[in-house]
Amino acid sequence: MTAQSGILLEHCKAGIYLEADITDFAAIPQACRDFCARLDGFLAQYPDANLGAVLAFGHQAWRRLAGADSAPQLKSFTALGKGGLSAPATQNDLLVHIQSDRPDVNFSMAQAAVAVFGCAVEIRQEIHGFRWVEERDLTGFIDGTENPKDEQRAAVALIADGADAGGSYVFTQRWEHDLDKWAKLSDEKQESVIGRTKPDSVELDDVPPTSHVGRVDLKENGEGLKILRQSLPYGTASGTNGLFFISYCARLHNIEQQLLSMFGELDGKTDRLLGFTKPVTGSYYFAPSLDMLKAL
Ligand code: HEM
Ligand code: MG
Repeated sequence: MTAQSGILLEHCKAGIYLEADITDFAAIPQACRDFCARLDGFLAQYPDANLGAVLAFGHQAWRRLAGADSAPQLKSFTALGKGGLSAPATQNDLLVHIQSDRPDVNFSMAQAAVAVFGCAVEIRQEIHGFRWVEERDLTGFIDGTENPKDEQRAAVALIADGADAGGSYVFTQRWEHDLDKWAKLSDEKQESVIGRTKPDSVELDDVPPTSHVGRVDLKENGEGLKILRQSLPYGTASGTNGLFFISYCARLHNIEQQLLSMFGELDGKTDRLLGFTKPVTGSYYFAPSLDMLKAL
């Protein structure tokens, strides 16, 4: 089983995230095959672009398209946390994730996606992400240091066997930063919020339990709960900006535990990062293998 081409790519310079609801389910299987054909065309045309793309489906949509057995862990994302420290749920049916080193090629692929899905979907959100200097988030901290590398990426992100082999659970969450508030903290205070050093992303000797790393670097039965992140900064310099967070994992559980931990639902402690940025969307999806996608 071959995984979709956008999941494991490394160091892409740009990405487009489209989220949509499906209005005509009967049209979706053929649209998925057309999407794959258009992608193959761009892969052949731009072999050096480091291009890849993913189609993934929300719980309700996947049950209608694939039946009851595939992706047993899939569910709709529901809101977490309380009050000002909450994560809203904006679950959609379809995610299109395109990434490469070329924003121009990504745009062409996004146009192709919009064309093949046509009036079978209603687009709810389209975000264009960019890789910022030194792979930093707009907070100024390097993002991705502890991401799995090389063959670990597939081991973490892809379901290893069974009918869903090559598939992956996906989580998307768009965050809006308050960079003015963030800039009022000294570098040292910022480091204690993140749990790593700012210049070179070294883990602090004593990672505060309410720092971001303290919240998400979780172990269960002695084993780290790993995920593969493919997030990118987005937005405008003068207006709204932040991080489009997206992660892939062979188990939905790992992603969910990290979220519960950030939003105070595991031990009552919340992530100090939440004082400086807030999630405004959130959805779970399943990205089937390429084989399963083409056989819908
Ligand atoms: C680590 C930023 C949201 C999971 C990090 C690091 C930064 C960062 C700077 C340290 C460097 C690295 O290892 O990549 C952010 C920002 C977020 C955000 C700015 C939102 C605005 C999330 C969310 C999750 C998450 C929602 C999980 C659902 C992780 C994980 C690590 C990490 C697993 C690696 C921890 C480790 O093993 O040390 N993040 N993050 N992050 N983040 Fe986030
Ligand atoms: Mg660690």
